Amino acid sequence: MKSVQIEDLLKKLSLQDKARQITQINADFIKADVKAEATGVSDGFYLTKDDVFGCGSVLNFGDARDAEYIRKKYLEVSENKVPLVMMQDVIHGYRTIFPVPLALACSFDADLVEECCKMSAVEASLNGVDVTFSPMINLSRDARWGRVMEGYGEDPYLNGLFGRAAVRGYRAGGLASCVKHYAAYGAAEAGKDYNTTDLSEHNLREYYLRAFEECLKENPELIMTSFNLLNGVPVNADSHLLVDILRKEWNYNGVVISDYAAVVEMIKHGYAENKKECARVAALNAVDMEMMSSAYIEFLPELVEEGAVPASVVDEMAKRVLELKQKLNLFENPDNATSVQKAEEACLCPEHREIALRSAEKSFVLLENSGVLPLKEWQKIALVGPLAAEKNILGAWACAGRADECVSVKEGVEKLLGAKVLYSKGCSVDLLSDDESIIADAVKTAKKAEVVVACVGEHSYHSGESASRADICLPKVQVKLLKELKKAGKPVVAVIFGGRPQVLTEVKEIAAAILYVWQPGTEGGSAIAETLYGKVCPEGKLAMSFPRSVGQCPVYYNHFSSGRPKSKDELHGQAYTCGYIDELNSPLYPFGYGLSYTRFEYGDIKLSSAVMERGGKICVSVPLKNCGSRAGGEVVQLYIRDKFASCARPVRELKAFRKVTLAAGEQKTVVFEITEDDLKFYGANGKFAAEAGEFEVMAGGDSRCAVAGVFRLL
Ligand code: BGC
Repeated sequence: MKSVQIEDLLKKLSLQDKARQITQINADFIKADVKAEATGVSDGFYLTKDDVFGCGSVLNFGDARDAEYIRKKYLEVSENKVPLVMMQDVIHGYRTIFPVPLALACSFDADLVEECCKMSAVEASLNGVDVTFSPMINLSRDARWGRVMEGYGEDPYLNGLFGRAAVRGYRAGGLASCVKHYAAYGAAEAGKDYNTTDLSEHNLREYYLRAFEECLKENPELIMTSFNLLNGVPVNADSHLLVDILRKEWNYNGVVISDYAAVVEMIKHGYAENKKECARVAALNAVDMEMMSSAYIEFLPELVEEGAVPASVVDEMAKRVLELKQKLNLFENPDNATSVQKAEEACLCPEHREIALRSAEKSFVLLENSGVLPLKEWQKIALVGPLAAEKNILGAWACAGRADECVSVKEGVEKLLGAKVLYSKGCSVDLLSDDESIIADAVKTAKKAEVVVACVGEHSYHSGESASRADICLPKVQVKLLKELKKAGKPVVAVIFGGRPQVLTEVKEIAAAILYVWQPGTEGGSAIAETLYGKVCPEGKLAMSFPRSVGQCPVYYNHFSSGRPKSKDELHGQAYTCGYIDELNSPLYPFGYGLSYTRFEYGDIKLSSAVMERGGKICVSVPLKNCGSRAGGEVVQLYIRDKFASCARPVRELKAFRKVTLAAGEQKTVVFEITEDDLKFYGANGKFAAEAGEFEVMAGGDSRCAVAGVFRLL
């Protein structure tokens, strides 16, 4: 079919057809050759066969073969033959899986994020995917929330930067992006998934919307709304968020899609009385497409006839969906002929595996090292722990990734050494396991070795959607295992897997080194082996703070000062100051932190001036030297504090960073430019502007770096 005039097509479609076009269903309905009627997965569904074969879009459908079958069958049966747009959760790879987004954020490398997204898009688009439900740029400060693994951590600037890189990468690889979840989903109370959020306008704009505003600069094709209540209103009913800000203030004209059945969940939220009301409210807020419920199909035509929803509103919604299809060339190529063979060749090809390896290596964060790392190839090692031989180290949302195509740590180490290693599982990976019966075998194995590498932490299914945790300490049985291994008298290197920051306070006391490897993906085991043996030097830095204890959650670096701040982070002696009587305020490992096998020293940091004119700039020179005996990478970070403002500013905010690789003994001066734009924020009058006054500048290797200078904005 030739490129169509959207207006003409709209005229041809009935109201019912339009309601179908703006509905997205599971591809199974089409695959399963639905008869006259179908009832679906959620109580939000009721579809006739005509509805199914009139729907505008399907999600999560499978691979190239499925795509071909579905598109063909759909076009055969459908009356209007408007092509389907097919969407899938391609979150951190398609078949080749790279580290989870939170891990990738620790690389502090936007080019790498872009490259990984491009790679996943190449595999996914060859497999028939038109749109990925990614990137997720929800600011997340509470490590209990299971979905922290899907975003880029606790900093709004990083979320914006990496979100943009992801959109560019997907586009370069042939996929449209759906930026999600708009908005404030990550602020879920107590870290419980889908839970209530309550935020002031200032907090919302300054922290939770920033990355979305930033991402819009890349013109993402879609935006997905979130599940949560925001200030008492379900997001799909929040006209301030969806209409005033997104459409009017930011002029977003792409497709807004709901999350899975979230339109009808407004009933359970206690907001809308029935499905018809859900349809009315979501449509009037320009939620263009309803995912996985059928309120639009069932009630929009009726609502238009009754005058409750203007026909022009439905036209606009359908128009945006059809324009998306046009933009994706689906009218020219409605069966989007995928080549199964090409798709198979691209998936897991050496080039993609190489990116998976490199990205995993760059995402690891070395948290502790007494000097035991890097290991020496002649040392006899024992590999223990429930994740040492685990093949599923893909992480949640692994799309078409397969555990059997992953390299486990055991496989990676044995390949690197060219020999079998001592191995014992030690305990179960289950979070609630109290079975200590196989610890003894691990201890026996450890005694035969010179050094023990213990692979512990979370399994892939312990984070992700609907996988929040109340206790993010390492499970008791794993801590017991580590303690017993230490008693065996051998240094214990803890290789810790996780889709979130975990509480490692006890582990820190036991382990001689801690390497945090997140959920590293397809090449995880090879990347871990290369890192343990020093073939590469760790250079990751934390994109999210690691709490000392669960009670500190949410703990994040860019917090505010109370009126009674502690002058020193100590437990005793400062009554009536902001803190706990049984815990410090600082995290165990702060944002931006990460060690290397080499040692970096920062020299005297200089500011080019003590005064910034309006429209002017200040240069900050940061001398850095590699004082160790091997090459390594460092992330030089620049923070600012606006000392007094109409709305108090955080104690520090990341404004820029630079990744530098230096040979042993090499030095370099990194120069940052601070402009007025970097000082802007939403002030008490709601305006985004920089206010005159004093600013502190801090630069260094993590978010604890000291104040290096002060300037005044005139
Ligand atoms: C998730 C979304 C996802 C969608 C489709 C929902 O449950 O919240 O992030 O894109 O399902 O799979």
